[in-house]
Amino acid sequence: MDIKAADYLDLMPKADDGAVRRWRADHEKRLARPKKGFLRFQEPWRQICTLPPAESCDFSGDAVRIGRCGELNHTQYDLLHESLRRFMPWRKGPFSLFGLEIDAEWQSFRKWDRLLPGLPELENRMVADIGCNNGYYMFRLLPRRPAAVVGFEPVLQHYYCFKSLQHLAGQAAKPLFIEPMGVEQIGLYPASFDVIFLMGVIYHRRDPLTMLQQLHAALRPGGTLVLESQAIPGTDSLALFPERTYAKAPGVYFVPTAACLHNWLSRAGFKTVHLLSQVPTSPEEQRRTEWMTFESYSDFLDPENPARTIEGYPAPDRVIFIAKI
Ligand SMILES: C[S@@+](CC[C@H](N)C(=O)[O-])C[C@H]1O[C@@H](n2cnc3c(N)ncnc32)[C@H](O)[C@@H]1O
Repeated sequence: MDIKAADYLDLMPKADDGAVRRWRADHEKRLARPKKGFLRFQEPWRQICTLPPAESCDFSGDAVRIGRCGELNHTQYDLLHESLRRFMPWRKGPFSLFGLEIDAEWQSFRKWDRLLPGLPELENRMVADIGCNNGYYMFRLLPRRPAAVVGFEPVLQHYYCFKSLQHLAGQAAKPLFIEPMGVEQIGLYPASFDVIFLMGVIYHRRDPLTMLQQLHAALRPGGTLVLESQAIPGTDSLALFPERTYAKAPGVYFVPTAACLHNWLSRAGFKTVHLLSQVPTSPEEQRRTEWMTFESYSDFLDPENPARTIEGYPAPDRVIFIAKI
């Protein structure tokens, strides 16, 4: 299947395309309201859209490269630099944009490298990346020749940051799409995706089990969920429910052990569940940079005991599961 369609929905017969289109229209209406918060990230995106798309891109290296040094004149380069700074803090990366190096908080290629041995077949497949942030992994998926990759991202900062990068990448990003939706809207896509990536999201959900069942329902027969998460160490099937914050992050509900996550996936109906990787989170992988100047991982740990978070909970591992329906 080649992405000749202007809209990936044309390739997805079971999706509720009417409801998706209504959702998009409502979103546009919301954004049209003269609210300052909405403009904050629309403005740099509009600025970036005045720049020409890159002559070449390379999505196969650790840094997503769009364009080369010298393709833009000085005025254009300054506009790019100033606009990209307005998307700070940059959490995911790195990116190399017309020679401008963006060192994000996360060295996202490390997660990508852990994923590689378990990546399912993606050629001509319909793929979702839920909680896609600025789309770092969507770009990395392109060399695998998916039919389409649909990013779900409800946070406007990341949504417009992705749209800016997509504009700069031009035709090379043609199979990529983004919806300003959260995982809550996955019910609009019954039996629609061959592969769903859900990375760094599940511990932010109040009802992870129901969400897993909904993701199961959004997969086509034979489909695969690639699930990446924080996890606490341990072999029992347990989840930590932090009193207020976990590693200073608010909005964290259940942080499971790998055994517990395995159990959730099985009980949500996945037939084969495989733990691909489990590693401690590291201050090399997540750290403060020039493009993310706030606190980062080492500030979230007990300075006397890095095996504990600042709240005294077990420090997080990162786990990846490959689950098939
Ligand atoms: C911890 S980041 C993970 C980003 C990326 N998937 C990764 O693994 O590096 C969580 C992402 O989920 C997004 N998000 C927030 N609420 C969401 C929701 N309700 N549904 C889906 N994603 C959401 C955030 O804006 C953010 O981009």
